[in-house]
Amino acid sequence: MSNAAAPATEGPDRSEAPAHVAIIMDGNGRWAAARGLPRAEGHRRGVEALRRVVRASHELGIRYLTIFSFSSENWSRPASEIGDLFGLLRRFIRNDLASLHRDGVKVRIIGEREGLESDICALLNEAEELTRDNTRLTLVVAFNYGSRQEIAKAAQKLAREIAEGKRDPATIDAETLGAHLDAPDIPDPDLIIRTSGEQRLSNFLMWQAAYSELVFVPIHWPDFDKAALESAIAEFARRERRFGGLVAKTAS
Ligand code: FPP
Repeated sequence: MSNAAAPATEGPDRSEAPAHVAIIMDGNGRWAAARGLPRAEGHRRGVEALRRVVRASHELGIRYLTIFSFSSENWSRPASEIGDLFGLLRRFIRNDLASLHRDGVKVRIIGEREGLESDICALLNEAEELTRDNTRLTLVVAFNYGSRQEIAKAAQKLAREIAEGKRDPATIDAETLGAHLDAPDIPDPDLIIRTSGEQRLSNFLMWQAAYSELVFVPIHWPDFDKAALESAIAEFARRERRFGGLVAKTAS
């Protein structure tokens, strides 16, 4: 990634920034439990951490930030918690969309929209529509998202093209399948961070993570801040990425 256009005010810490950072924001519940607070308070403080990290991403020169906001599997949580998470998304878009837009953030949503309440769909569309021409940072919100579901949906689209006689099965390769995923124009994440100490992907960006560096940090998401992001980036910078070859390469 070239830093040639970095404004002088944003300083030398931009040099190591990966182009695309994706985050599994884990540990809201444990953060709350450790303080005797309801889980909803952990999620609410999680939104504050998200605001900090969007701001820090700007400052560090990150171009794409993907966050795992609600997984296809989160439907198995109690209805009250699902309601809290949906309420936070509604409030986040209503309260923060204007300032995200002012800051040049382009919002993209990945995940299944079918079956979501119509006001949520309208808010997701509004966020994408309003910010579509912004270029400073792309915030990809994975909402009602699961990687297996995304890959299955891509397979369905390809199967439909074959059934309609528009595609020869022999033309399907990794690139073709990748082009049928939810956001094919977004580069694969260079760095995937998971907070709260768990060391797994939990159905997040499994196709796109083929050559991502994974960094697991012990702190709970509500405590995550710019310093924690910088430290994950420093760990990323120490890794040697060979993409299956013998020689270290930079991804972007
Ligand atoms: C994991 O913590 C976090 C989630 C399931 C949701 C993440 C959501 C937010 C940070 C707030 C909403 C986001 C937006 C964009 C408004 P957990 O509940 O699994 O924590 P635990 O593993 O400690 O129980």
